[in-house]
Amino acid sequence: MKNRLSRIIKPKTGRTLMLAVDHGYFMGPTAGLEQFDKTVEPLIPYADALMLTRGALRNYIKPEYDIPIVLRISGGTSIIGKELLHEGIITSIEDAIRLNACAVAFSIMVGADFERDTLLALAQVIDEAERYGIPVLAVTAVGKEMERDARYLSLACRMAAEFGAHMVKTYYCKDFTKVVETCPVPIVIAGGKKRPEKEALEMAYNAIQEGAVGVDMGRNIFQSEDPVAMIQAVRAIVHEDATPDEAFKLFNDIKEERKKT
Ligand code: R5P
Repeated sequence: MKNRLSRIIKPKTGRTLMLAVDHGYFMGPTAGLEQFDKTVEPLIPYADALMLTRGALRNYIKPEYDIPIVLRISGGTSIIGKELLHEGIITSIEDAIRLNACAVAFSIMVGADFERDTLLALAQVIDEAERYGIPVLAVTAVGKEMERDARYLSLACRMAAEFGAHMVKTYYCKDFTKVVETCPVPIVIAGGKKRPEKEALEMAYNAIQEGAVGVDMGRNIFQSEDPVAMIQAVRAIVHEDATPDEAFKLFNDIKEERKKT
């Protein structure tokens, strides 16, 4: 368990840059990931871990790549369905092991009608994963009608940790330190919808400075006008404590350099 966690959260800095490219499991061919391998392959050298589904792993990622896999194992509803994120188990722990996953990711929906289903499924996944020393990343999903504030997110994160999750993924919010301080396991933040590069870098910086161990970022990297430059800028924030200004300059410098080649 500890070895697997150390492959994801790098012991040298105690931080991680997880690249989230699992969106297809409920969003289908997400903008930027239509040609999955073309977008993701150039980003792999700069990511500490890759979060994706078994189908994406099988079809798009060469087995030769030395990148820890965080396998998305929850799903069951789509972005156009009536119940967004009412998820159950879509991949067994045995298959996660067969695919050499370093961790599995499961979404819970606290505060929705079906919260009980997702929480009991999380408990089941943790029981099965513990048997084999596989860490579980609980994803605190947020419905369209729910406030992404510290009160709600600290409830969801703490509940996930009390259920036995080994890491939690949540959203950055005002008073984020409250979320971090009341959660006994490492927290990574999702990026959310695409925003201007400078803003995304500021959000990553604030989250890290306020106690997140890293990011599990997707659209703000792979939908950037230059994803390869963006992931390196985020990396500077995560592992080198670069300020948003320094990271944004790095983004622009790499982008300009890459235009020449
Ligand atoms: C949603 O639950 C998916 O797991 C995504 O991986 C997650 O939202 C992170 O991606 P993004 O930074 O695009 O929000």
